[in-house]
Amino acid sequence: MNYTIIAHNANYMPPVQKPNLTFLPQIGEQGMRDLLSRFYACLDQSAIRNIFPAKNSAEMEEAAQTSADFFIQICGGPAYFNQRHGVPKMRQRHMPFSITAEGRLHWLVCFEEALKPLEASVKEEDLQSFWNYINTFSVMMINTQG
Ligand code: HEM
Repeated sequence: MNYTIIAHNANYMPPVQKPNLTFLPQIGEQGMRDLLSRFYACLDQSAIRNIFPAKNSAEMEEAAQTSADFFIQICGGPAYFNQRHGVPKMRQRHMPFSITAEGRLHWLVCFEEALKPLEASVKEEDLQSFWNYINTFSVMMINTQG
Protein backbone atom coordinates (compact mmCIF):
# COMPACT_ATOMS: atom_id res chain seq x y z
CA MET A 1 0.00 0.00 0.00
CA ASN A 2 1.12 3.50 -0.78
CA TYR A 3 -0.23 5.97 1.78
CA THR A 4 1.68 8.93 0.35
CA ILE A 5 -0.25 12.16 0.87
CA ILE A 6 -0.36 14.35 -2.21
CA ALA A 7 0.71 17.94 -1.74
CA HIS A 8 -1.86 20.68 -1.62
CA ASN A 9 -1.48 23.38 -4.26
CA ALA A 10 -4.04 26.17 -4.22
CA ASN A 11 -3.91 26.49 -8.02
CA TYR A 12 -4.41 22.84 -8.84
CA MET A 13 -7.20 20.44 -7.98
CA PRO A 14 -6.20 16.83 -8.67
CA PRO A 15 -8.66 14.70 -10.63
CA VAL A 16 -10.81 12.59 -8.31
CA GLN A 17 -11.79 9.01 -9.12
CA LYS A 18 -14.31 7.13 -7.02
CA PRO A 19 -13.10 3.99 -5.21
CA ASN A 20 -13.32 0.71 -7.15
CA LEU A 21 -16.78 -0.87 -7.04
CA THR A 22 -15.08 -4.08 -5.92
CA PHE A 23 -13.96 -2.48 -2.60
CA LEU A 24 -17.26 -2.34 -0.69
CA PRO A 25 -18.30 -5.99 -1.29
CA GLN A 26 -15.05 -7.11 0.35
CA ILE A 27 -15.74 -5.33 3.65
CA GLY A 28 -19.54 -5.10 3.56
CA GLU A 29 -21.66 -2.24 4.93
CA GLN A 30 -20.78 -3.21 8.50
CA GLY A 31 -17.10 -3.19 7.62
CA MET A 32 -17.50 0.37 6.31
CA ARG A 33 -19.34 1.42 9.50
CA ASP A 34 -16.55 -0.11 11.61
CA LEU A 35 -13.93 1.68 9.46
CA LEU A 36 -15.60 5.05 10.07
CA SER A 37 -15.94 4.28 13.81
CA ARG A 38 -12.18 3.63 14.03
CA PHE A 39 -11.52 6.77 12.01
CA TYR A 40 -13.67 9.03 14.21
CA ALA A 41 -12.22 7.45 17.38
CA CYS A 42 -8.83 8.58 16.06
CA LEU A 43 -10.16 12.07 15.19
CA ASP A 44 -11.59 12.26 18.73
CA GLN A 45 -7.99 12.06 20.05
CA SER A 46 -6.42 14.16 17.29
CA ALA A 47 -5.02 17.66 16.94
CA ILE A 48 -8.13 18.64 14.89
CA ARG A 49 -10.68 17.49 17.50
CA ASN A 50 -11.60 21.15 18.11
CA ILE A 51 -13.13 21.67 14.66
CA PHE A 52 -15.73 18.93 15.25
CA PRO A 53 -18.95 20.18 16.88
CA ALA A 54 -19.56 16.81 18.62
CA LYS A 55 -19.65 17.35 22.40
CA ASN A 56 -18.53 13.84 23.37
CA SER A 57 -17.47 10.46 21.97
CA ALA A 58 -21.07 9.35 21.51
CA GLU A 59 -21.69 12.35 19.26
CA MET A 60 -18.44 11.63 17.42
CA GLU A 61 -19.77 8.13 16.78
CA GLU A 62 -23.01 9.62 15.38
CA ALA A 63 -20.91 11.75 13.01
CA ALA A 64 -18.97 8.60 12.08
CA GLN A 65 -22.18 6.90 11.01
CA THR A 66 -23.28 9.92 8.95
CA SER A 67 -19.93 9.70 7.19
CA ALA A 68 -20.37 5.93 6.76
CA ASP A 69 -23.68 6.65 4.98
CA PHE A 70 -21.70 8.81 2.56
CA PHE A 71 -18.86 6.35 2.00
CA ILE A 72 -21.20 3.38 1.47
CA GLN A 73 -22.98 5.46 -1.17
CA ILE A 74 -19.83 6.69 -2.92
CA CYS A 75 -18.51 3.12 -3.02
CA GLY A 76 -21.57 1.96 -4.96
CA GLY A 77 -23.82 0.82 -2.11
CA PRO A 78 -27.31 2.08 -1.21
CA ALA A 79 -27.79 5.88 -1.37
CA TYR A 80 -28.07 6.24 2.44
CA PHE A 81 -26.55 9.71 2.48
CA ASN A 82 -29.00 11.16 -0.04
CA GLN A 83 -31.92 9.42 1.67
CA ARG A 84 -31.06 10.50 5.22
CA HIS A 85 -29.12 13.75 4.84
CA GLY A 86 -29.82 15.15 1.37
CA VAL A 87 -27.55 16.07 -1.51
CA PRO A 88 -23.86 15.62 -0.48
CA LYS A 89 -22.46 19.01 -1.64
CA MET A 90 -19.40 18.16 0.41
CA ARG A 91 -17.39 21.34 -0.09
CA GLN A 92 -20.40 23.43 0.90
CA ARG A 93 -21.10 21.25 3.97
CA HIS A 94 -17.52 21.67 5.15
CA MET A 95 -17.57 25.46 4.85
CA PRO A 96 -18.67 26.06 8.48
CA PHE A 97 -15.51 24.25 9.64
CA SER A 98 -12.07 25.75 9.31
CA ILE A 99 -10.09 23.18 7.29
CA THR A 100 -6.44 23.99 6.66
CA ALA A 101 -3.82 22.06 4.65
CA GLU A 102 -2.36 20.92 7.98
CA GLY A 103 -5.78 19.85 9.26
CA ARG A 104 -6.15 17.72 6.14
CA LEU A 105 -2.88 15.95 7.01
CA HIS A 106 -4.16 15.00 10.48
CA TRP A 107 -7.43 13.85 8.90
CA LEU A 108 -5.61 11.62 6.39
CA VAL A 109 -3.22 10.19 9.00
CA CYS A 110 -6.25 9.07 11.05
CA PHE A 111 -7.74 7.50 7.93
CA GLU A 112 -4.49 5.62 7.25
CA GLU A 113 -4.56 4.23 10.79
CA ALA A 114 -8.21 3.18 10.39
CA LEU A 115 -7.54 1.53 7.00
CA LYS A 116 -4.52 -0.54 8.08
CA PRO A 117 -6.53 -3.39 9.67
CA LEU A 118 -8.20 -3.93 6.27
CA GLU A 119 -4.89 -4.70 4.55
CA ALA A 120 -5.13 -8.36 5.58
CA SER A 121 -8.53 -8.94 3.96
CA VAL A 122 -8.88 -6.47 1.07
CA LYS A 123 -7.19 -6.68 -2.33
CA GLU A 124 -4.45 -4.09 -2.39
CA GLU A 125 -5.56 -2.33 -5.57
CA ASP A 126 -9.06 -1.87 -4.11
CA LEU A 127 -7.79 -0.47 -0.82
CA GLN A 128 -5.42 1.73 -2.82
CA SER A 129 -8.35 3.08 -4.87
CA PHE A 130 -10.11 4.09 -1.64
CA TRP A 131 -6.99 5.83 -0.36
CA ASN A 132 -6.51 7.60 -3.71
CA TYR A 133 -10.09 8.86 -3.50
CA ILE A 134 -9.80 10.41 -0.04
CA ASN A 135 -6.27 11.64 -0.79
CA THR A 136 -7.48 13.67 -3.78
CA PHE A 137 -11.01 14.61 -2.68
CA SER A 138 -9.75 15.94 0.65
CA VAL A 139 -7.78 18.65 -1.20
CA MET A 140 -11.12 20.18 -2.21
CA MET A 141 -12.27 20.44 1.43
CA ILE A 142 -9.46 22.84 2.32
CA ASN A 143 -11.16 26.18 2.85
CA THR A 144 -8.83 28.08 5.18
CA GLN A 145 -5.26 29.31 4.72
CA GLY A 146 -2.57 28.78 7.31
C1 HEM B 1 -9.73 17.58 4.47
C2 HEM B 1 -9.98 17.07 5.63
C3 HEM B 1 -11.35 17.02 6.26
C4 HEM B 1 -11.70 17.52 7.47
C5 HEM B 1 -10.75 18.20 8.44
C6 HEM B 1 -13.12 17.26 7.67
C7 HEM B 1 -13.86 17.67 8.77
C8 HEM B 1 -15.20 17.50 8.93
C9 HEM B 1 -16.02 18.10 9.94
C10 HEM B 1 -15.51 19.03 11.04
C11 HEM B 1 -17.28 17.65 9.79
C12 HEM B 1 -18.50 18.00 10.64
C13 HEM B 1 -18.84 16.88 11.56
C14 HEM B 1 -20.12 17.12 12.30
O1 HEM B 1 -20.99 17.88 11.85
O2 HEM B 1 -20.24 16.54 13.38
C15 HEM B 1 -17.28 16.80 8.63
C16 HEM B 1 -18.38 16.16 8.13
C17 HEM B 1 -18.36 15.29 7.10
N1 HEM B 1 -17.28 15.00 6.30
FE1 HEM B 1 -15.47 15.79 6.44
N2 HEM B 1 -13.60 16.60 6.60
C18 HEM B 1 -12.57 16.44 5.70
C19 HEM B 1 -12.65 15.82 4.49
C20 HEM B 1 -13.70 15.05 4.07
C21 HEM B 1 -13.71 14.26 2.88
C22 HEM B 1 -12.57 14.18 1.86
C23 HEM B 1 -14.93 13.62 2.84
C24 HEM B 1 -15.48 12.70 1.83
C25 HEM B 1 -14.78 12.09 0.91
C26 HEM B 1 -15.65 14.00 4.02
C27 HEM B 1 -16.90 13.57 4.38
C28 HEM B 1 -17.68 14.08 5.37
C29 HEM B 1 -19.07 13.75 5.58
C30 HEM B 1 -19.90 12.76 4.78
C31 HEM B 1 -19.51 14.52 6.66
C32 HEM B 1 -20.91 14.55 7.25
C33 HEM B 1 -21.66 15.71 6.65
C34 HEM B 1 -23.02 15.90 7.29
O3 HEM B 1 -23.14 15.76 8.52
O4 HEM B 1 -23.97 16.18 6.58
N3 HEM B 1 -14.89 14.87 4.75
N4 HEM B 1 -16.01 16.73 8.13
